[in-house]
Amino acid sequence: MSVFIVLLGPPGAGKGTQAKVVSQRMGLPHISSGEIYRENIKNQTALGKLAKGYIDRGELVPDDVTIAIIQERLSRPDCKPGALLDGFPRTPAQAEALERILLQFKGDVAIVPYISVPEDVLVSRLIGRWTCRAGAHVFHEQFNPPQRTGTCDYDGSELYQRDDDKFETVSHRISVYLQQTLPLIEYYKMQGKLFEVDGTLPIDQVSSVLLEELSRIVTG
Ligand code: AP5
Repeated sequence: MSVFIVLLGPPGAGKGTQAKVVSQRMGLPHISSGEIYRENIKNQTALGKLAKGYIDRGELVPDDVTIAIIQERLSRPDCKPGALLDGFPRTPAQAEALERILLQFKGDVAIVPYISVPEDVLVSRLIGRWTCRAGAHVFHEQFNPPQRTGTCDYDGSELYQRDDDKFETVSHRISVYLQQTLPLIEYYKMQGKLFEVDGTLPIDQVSSVLLEELSRIVTG
């Protein structure tokens, strides 16, 4: 049986940080819509050029574009056992599209971990975040510093600050989240799939809580 997991939470909640741990432990591909866009921006593809303006302004890329890239990604063979979705869906239209897409593969969303973190904490997490160029591993100059400043602990590549992690853009991303993504919490709560995790706990503790709940769901 395939297992599709949707990681939900505001910008900076720790979705990417946790997705790296959970996908490795559960043997599921980590699909991050934001990472797909950043790769395309780096490679200057048509998709990257289209997405860049929206991302730099802290807006969402239009639903039809994002739904199409996720549909294509989920159709690849590595997603047969399921996938861990990080950053998708982000609107009710995307959530409905995901259900239609998964139906084609005779699958469904199994569980939706929601990492909750208060707004003031999010801002300091995002403006202090450093991301690695090769593998998108994330660090924080204060809360999760790399062993060597400017270098990724996992693959030795350079760390950089994302263009959309500037203070003004961060504030806008949080308000876009509150307007467009927050309704998904109720949507998945009504379906009995929401599982809330306190994202202010230390990183390792958030991982333990998540992995315990996910293994309970997977092993039934
Ligand atoms: P995306 O890349 O998805 O960004 P996001 O959702 O804003 O999430 P972030 O990556 O900023 O945060 P995160 O929750 O992964 O936190 P992280 O683990 O890094 O999207 C970027 C853009 O792409 C969007 O704005 C939009 O334009 C576009 N896009 C993407 N998907 C889209 C979609 N579906 N539809 C339309 N447009 C889309 O952690 C943050 C920091 O906190 C790090 O420094 C980390 O070290 C630290 N940290 C993590 N956990 C803890 C902890 N427990 N304690 C202390 N520090 C912690």
